[in-house]
Amino acid sequence: MHKIEIMPENTKRYTITAALPYANGPVHIGHLAGVYVPADIYVRYLRSKGEDVAFVCGSDEHGVPITLRAKAEGISPQEVVDKYDSIIKKSFLDFGISFDIYSRTSSPTHHETAAAFFKNLYDKGVFEEKESMQYYDEESQQFLADRYIVGTCPNCNYDNAYGDQCESCGTSLSPNDLKNPKSALSGNPPIKKSTKHWYLPMNKYEKWLREWILEGHKEWKSNVYGQCKSWLDLGLQPRAMTRDLDWGVRVPIEGEEGKVLYVWFDAPIGYISATKDWAKAQGKDWEPYWKSEDTKLIHFIGKDNIVFHCIIFPTILKADGNYVLPDNVPANEFLNLEGDKISTSRNWAVWLHEYLADFPEKQDVLRYTLCANAPETKDNDFTWKSFQERNNNELVAILGNFINRAVVLTHKYFDGKIPVLGSTYDLDSEVIEKVKAYPRKIAKSLEQYRFREAMTLFMELARVGNKYLGDTEPWILMKDANNRERVATILNLSLQLAANISILGGPFLPFSMDRLSEILNFNEKNWSVAGAVDLLKEGHDLNKAELLFQKIENEEITAQVERLEKIKQENAVKNQKADPAKDTVTFDDFMKMDIRIGTILEAEKVKKSKKLLRLLVDTGIDQRTVMSGIAEYFTPEETIGKQVSILVNLAPRKIMGVESQGMILMAEDKDGSLKFIQPSDNVSPGAGVS
Ligand code: MF3
Ligand code: ZN
Repeated sequence: MHKIEIMPENTKRYTITAALPYANGPVHIGHLAGVYVPADIYVRYLRSKGEDVAFVCGSDEHGVPITLRAKAEGISPQEVVDKYDSIIKKSFLDFGISFDIYSRTSSPTHHETAAAFFKNLYDKGVFEEKESMQYYDEESQQFLADRYIVGTCPNCNYDNAYGDQCESCGTSLSPNDLKNPKSALSGNPPIKKSTKHWYLPMNKYEKWLREWILEGHKEWKSNVYGQCKSWLDLGLQPRAMTRDLDWGVRVPIEGEEGKVLYVWFDAPIGYISATKDWAKAQGKDWEPYWKSEDTKLIHFIGKDNIVFHCIIFPTILKADGNYVLPDNVPANEFLNLEGDKISTSRNWAVWLHEYLADFPEKQDVLRYTLCANAPETKDNDFTWKSFQERNNNELVAILGNFINRAVVLTHKYFDGKIPVLGSTYDLDSEVIEKVKAYPRKIAKSLEQYRFREAMTLFMELARVGNKYLGDTEPWILMKDANNRERVATILNLSLQLAANISILGGPFLPFSMDRLSEILNFNEKNWSVAGAVDLLKEGHDLNKAELLFQKIENEEITAQVERLEKIKQENAVKNQKADPAKDTVTFDDFMKMDIRIGTILEAEKVKKSKKLLRLLVDTGIDQRTVMSGIAEYFTPEETIGKQVSILVNLAPRKIMGVESQGMILMAEDKDGSLKFIQPSDNVSPGAGVS
């Protein structure tokens, strides 16, 4: 018997990609809000309509930052990516991001696929081959990627700027802009040496791109369309598709060992490699997902990836000629955290694995809050306060409350069986109308990539149910036995609404909606059946009621806010710049200071002072009393016996009634803490310091 795949006539084929995260750190809420939650909502919606979908993702494991990270940690790049690939993969799984495959670009399939793609373009003569002078480190015998060159920023004079960007003032640079360039590998000044690379002549595709995007895709989101337009208006230049690096996909040309494909050439091809691996495991053919005219290719990404997915990758696909081009690229803007840009290096983030440790089983609450605040049209802010409010005032108070009341009352009055629908009145008709209308409304928003709007509509439906119960008050009606039939109708309709909710909410709140299906004993997920008010047959048994959402208490939120405040303080300390130098003094001025090494003989706290210790110091010249403001950092006992630096010719001063004869020199750290200035080995008391 052979298998023939028959697609129902109206089924469409979709290839949905979500940006491959760099495997050099875990993923945080910004990633989830901008890319993976919207992509997952969309895919779950498509699947629930019965569409044929390949939802692919994986780790982006090449590129210079990964090699730098490996160097910093003293491990190999492969070890770096192995570590983060599994952390990232697990986070996505935990949050219900329902990829058909999560692959990686260090896989053999990917290396073969990317190399073959390049080779094909090379053989077709697509690339321009150019020699250019690049920085080269003679000691480590390699060409230096932009990130491997450090030097002084021409803009702000920061002396640790990278060859591609100054992290101090944010200016983007090219290695030639740096003053005093040095190799990050050896620390030596690099030389310039000629090297060969293969360029994609973007300029030749400019006209086509203008037509394809600016004329052909006016429906793209305005943030995406706008960015494309400004790139195209600036004019496109040939762009090197290879690099001198030893981490990545080897350039598949004989005699060119030691060069790899540019990470932005190979990474998007990772979508294709992932599709291949998935199709193989499913016993399917991968090619229709990339090469059939009737396939819709959609890239979910963040705004920093727009040019790569709208301009460069399509050009690569077009140059090949056998691939479909993206139908849409619904890129999002960025999510901030408590008013500040999310930053890995500043640890200013909510990491997904940490969130789950603090809020176990509350994946949907985060998915909900992130979708409600998704940065769809502009940057947006995540705050813990709004997270709590969304949970308590919306998920618990509206959705959870409605479901719980409907189910509990049905158990109470009708033994947990769907009661009979009797005659209906205006209030009931309103509910029926809404149930009929909303599936189409929600679908329309989803199809336009308006996920916030779609979820708001979904919640409106829950609100309808909650209000319906509030207005009809079946628990009061039930006090009179004559109303039993009326209550039956109200609960029947409420439960039909709940069943609709379990279908329509699936894309947004997959975990909770599975639990709702369980409570309702109703496993239909097909979007097309939603809209009906006879999903649950009369007499159908419900399962036990169970709360879908739990209130989040103030303490839990305070703990998160405090954690962030602590990080902020730590960062403030780290970032403090040293004070600028004082005015110049002459050598003679300096020589007027008589600084000696002395030993502390006695120490005691000064009464009524938090800061002062009274010290008796052997200066080698004499024993003298010094009042020193170090009591917050040292107990008297700790100081006794220490060798310290003391300015012995400072004019005596009275402090708290005691004459202080000199001054102990201290180093003050950024956080205000004090340390003694001591000789590196013991010296005899009275040794001069100069
Ligand atoms: N790793 C990139 C980033 O995190 C995204 C790569 S998307 C792909 O910004 F197209 F290259 F796959
Ligand atoms: Zn700078």
